[in-house]
Amino acid sequence: MLSPVYLVRPATEADAPEINGIVNYEIDHSVNNFNYGPRSEEGCLDWFRSTINGGYPILVATTTLGDGKEVVGGYASLGSFRQKDGYRFTAEYSVYIHHEHRRRGLGRMLLKELLAEAKKREFRAIIGSISEGNEASLRLADEFGFRVVGTFKENGFKFDRWIDNTFIELLL
Ligand SMILES: CC(C)(COP(=O)(O)OP(=O)(O)OC[C@H]1O[C@@H](n2cnc3c(N)ncnc32)[C@H](O)[C@@H]1OP(=O)(O)O)[C@@H](O)C(=O)NCCC(=O)NCCS
Repeated sequence: MLSPVYLVRPATEADAPEINGIVNYEIDHSVNNFNYGPRSEEGCLDWFRSTINGGYPILVATTTLGDGKEVVGGYASLGSFRQKDGYRFTAEYSVYIHHEHRRRGLGRMLLKELLAEAKKREFRAIIGSISEGNEASLRLADEFGFRVVGTFKENGFKFDRWIDNTFIELLL
């Protein structure tokens, strides 16, 4: 079977339900997202609008099925790291790939475009927060030159256990 072709483009509000489905799957199945329960579609739209209005990008990687339907395979975004004025050139990134579209290079494609977009928008420091056991994210980030800042011990609690959390940073 031919591997599908994916394109990266800026997300639109119409992509929000598929983005939310990808995030909610991760909330249900992993400690990569510290929420306990699903985000509503309305909550996702709120996040979408405040991200775009805050001057941060949201990108999607999509592929087109045989019937012409476009499917979102994953997304990447930047968001506020901390609210205080002096942090305005710093952003925290997220990359989520649909579980059926992983290991096809989408994370790499999206992070590359996201960092290019971050540079265009004159962000200086890009921060990642990686939960214990998420080797895939650490390896992907390492490819782009992120350095490990340090590990918070047991600052997360999910599925009845404490979880460590590693912060990584890339200066653009
Ligand atoms: C982490 C994640 C974004 C990687 O996306 P992906 O599209 O599957 O990754 P890619 O195919 O682009 O792989 C790029 C590199 O990442 C690393 N990688 C990806 N998946 C991996 C895995 N399961 N185990 C180890 N390394 C992995 C490898 O170095 C890989 O390069 P290679 O395939 O040449 O060996 C994806 O697994 C994901 O969405 N995970 C859940 C959500 C999440 O944890 N997001 C991060 C929080 S911000």
